[in-house]
Amino acid sequence: MSDLFSDLSLRDLEVPNRLAVSPMCQYTCDADGLPTEWHRVHLGSRAVGGAGIVMTEATAVEPRGRITPHDLGIWSDEHAEALQPITEFVRDQGGVPGIQLAHAGHKASKTRPWDGNVPIAPDETDPDGAAGWEVLSPSPDAYPPFPGDRPAMRKADQDDIEGVIDAYRAAAERSLEAGFEIAEVHAAHGYLLHEFLSPVTNDRDDDYGGSFENRTRLVREVVKAVRDVWPDEKPIFVRISGTDWVEDRESWDIDQSVRLAGDLAELGVDLLDVSSGGLHPDQQVPGGPNFQVPLAEAVREGTDDLAVGAVGGVTEPEQADALVRNGRADLVLVGREFLRDPYFGLRAAGELEGDAAEKWPVQYRRAVQR
Ligand SMILES: Cc1cc2nc3c(=O)[nH]c(=O)nc-3n(C[C@H](O)[C@H](O)[C@H](O)COP(=O)(O)O)c2cc1C
Repeated sequence: MSDLFSDLSLRDLEVPNRLAVSPMCQYTCDADGLPTEWHRVHLGSRAVGGAGIVMTEATAVEPRGRITPHDLGIWSDEHAEALQPITEFVRDQGGVPGIQLAHAGHKASKTRPWDGNVPIAPDETDPDGAAGWEVLSPSPDAYPPFPGDRPAMRKADQDDIEGVIDAYRAAAERSLEAGFEIAEVHAAHGYLLHEFLSPVTNDRDDDYGGSFENRTRLVREVVKAVRDVWPDEKPIFVRISGTDWVEDRESWDIDQSVRLAGDLAELGVDLLDVSSGGLHPDQQVPGGPNFQVPLAEAVREGTDDLAVGAVGGVTEPEQADALVRNGRADLVLVGREFLRDPYFGLRAAGELEGDAAEKWPVQYRRAVQR
């Protein structure tokens, strides 16, 4: 048996294999943040395709935290009810449904990638007629945002910060109602929590800026709030950017990530999903197969107290299996390869385990039985 297709135990949760669909925004809601048929088919297909964990796209904990007006959200009971059939379907296929809880911070209120990814001012609309809004930032003046017009930004005050923590707590409660087994806090890719973590984007002089302890305070408070309502038997993941890849100035780096991993483990986080970058246009990202794996590996070596997920440039079953076999990661998250091939998990099982016909859904088995 391959290592990729071994069980992963996290608290009381048994994940059937070490392969996860990485969170991927679909920007396919109406402006209400409710899932559409697209979400049902998109997430459902990947569950049919053999992923052990099917993670939703970044799902906004409040409307202001959407990247675009078409992002998925979980800020009302209606959202939880609408997501419930999706989690049920994923579970019926033997997969584990996870939800990535997100707040886009100053990278919010943009048009969709295929509409140019440009800021939408509060008095403007995107090509579909959806209105923009004022975005939230730890330090609006800390640096120019991505090229293009500067969005309307608000510096987060104490009420905003408490509002964000409450929104995460409520989103976690609703995620539970919706049937998710894993809550992942999105603290990567230059979105709100990462903006607080990095000295590049955080020049506050209050309790949420300056020292490592202050910059990490918000993510710790969010994690505490989620852990308070997330049942003891269910795991919490956090996705971080292991580094900003901005080395010419004081920035977030792998040493701080390792230190944060220890703090998060103490707060009851079970797995750190280690991505990178996304914060600043000056980033120098190396790219290529496994390019982020050394970051995951450093976290895995730096703390015994949580499991680690690796992501980025994984496209081959043998490559994914080797990451687990060689102790570089406990879980492999795959993004774009799962878009190219929704059945990547089944293909991987076939390649790694020989006859994997029993892993295919019964409805499809005649296609693979000898
Ligand atoms: C279409 C698309 C949407 C994405 N949306 C998200 C997202 O919602 N949350 C997130 O943390 N990462 C997001 N990512 C990053 C992926 O989860 C993943 O980390 C990245 O694509 C690298 O993995 P890969 O090389 O296997 O694609 C997205 C990537 C793609 C291609």
